[in-house]
Amino acid sequence: MKARTAIKIGIGLGAAIWVARRLANHKLTEALGAVLKDVQATCGRYTPWYSTNRWTTLGQEQALQRDERRTAAVRARYDRIAAIYDFIERPMERGSFSRWRKRLWAEVNGPRILEVGVGTGKNFAYYPKDAEITAVDFSPRMLERARRRAKQEGVQVDLRLMDVQHLEFPDKTFDSVVGSFVFCSVPDPIKGLQELRRVTKPEGKIVLLEHMRPPGLAGKLADVLNPFVVRLWGANMNRRTVENVVQAGLTIERVESLWRDVVKLIVACPSKE
Ligand SMILES: C[S@@+](CC[C@H](N)C(=O)[O-])C[C@H]1O[C@@H](n2cnc3c(N)ncnc32)[C@H](O)[C@@H]1O
Repeated sequence: MKARTAIKIGIGLGAAIWVARRLANHKLTEALGAVLKDVQATCGRYTPWYSTNRWTTLGQEQALQRDERRTAAVRARYDRIAAIYDFIERPMERGSFSRWRKRLWAEVNGPRILEVGVGTGKNFAYYPKDAEITAVDFSPRMLERARRRAKQEGVQVDLRLMDVQHLEFPDKTFDSVVGSFVFCSVPDPIKGLQELRRVTKPEGKIVLLEHMRPPGLAGKLADVLNPFVVRLWGANMNRRTVENVVQAGLTIERVESLWRDVVKLIVACPSKE
């Protein structure tokens, strides 16, 4: 081997080792590794998509344990992806997401507002001034990022670690309850939506921006891909959120399709008593 080739190989190898070591220590790699481990660990004990309701025969105690396990699994997924969440969603955020968020917040009335599933705080920029806003999430890592963002952007918000399936607020507390891309991942969406109904004032509003199961053949494809996507990213592609809102006892005032019957804005109110 010529000396020049040997030097080139040496430099190439050195550079590759340097990059690999930098990557190995990088937070992104750590987070990606955790996501891959989760996929690997859960694929083996995955419950088939066609049997998601097969638990109905379980006893109450077992059902409770199952709910806790499911909730812990979804929470752990969001904790794992928290470090890369904003980075991965940045291209979408620059495109349609910001437009949709503006639409969402244009519907919201104060003074008392609750945001559920606040995530890393991507809605902060759209919060109305002079409102009293409380925001909850059940993932400590996502919430940590929201706290950091609130501090950096000088946003006044009361951030709390809380599960939307068990909200710790009294009945009829808020004028508006808001959520963006949340009910695709809440383990028991009906329970969560019932909680939203409970904490909203009778004359108040529930406003949701959600992606859901596409119509037609694309819906069937979403059913097939869902088990993989949900384990990788935490969100289900095939939730029937409009139907879930009705099932939770809310009254739908308006549903606006923002993108191909997949992304929708839902404006609802707690049913009249
Ligand atoms: C796809 S992210 C959306 C975050 C944010 N709303 C946004 O628009 O970027 C879903 C968020 O909902 C939170 N979440 C899911 N289930 C929840 C639950 N049961 N209680 C509270 N937060 C929940 C997750 O932790 C995650 O931060």
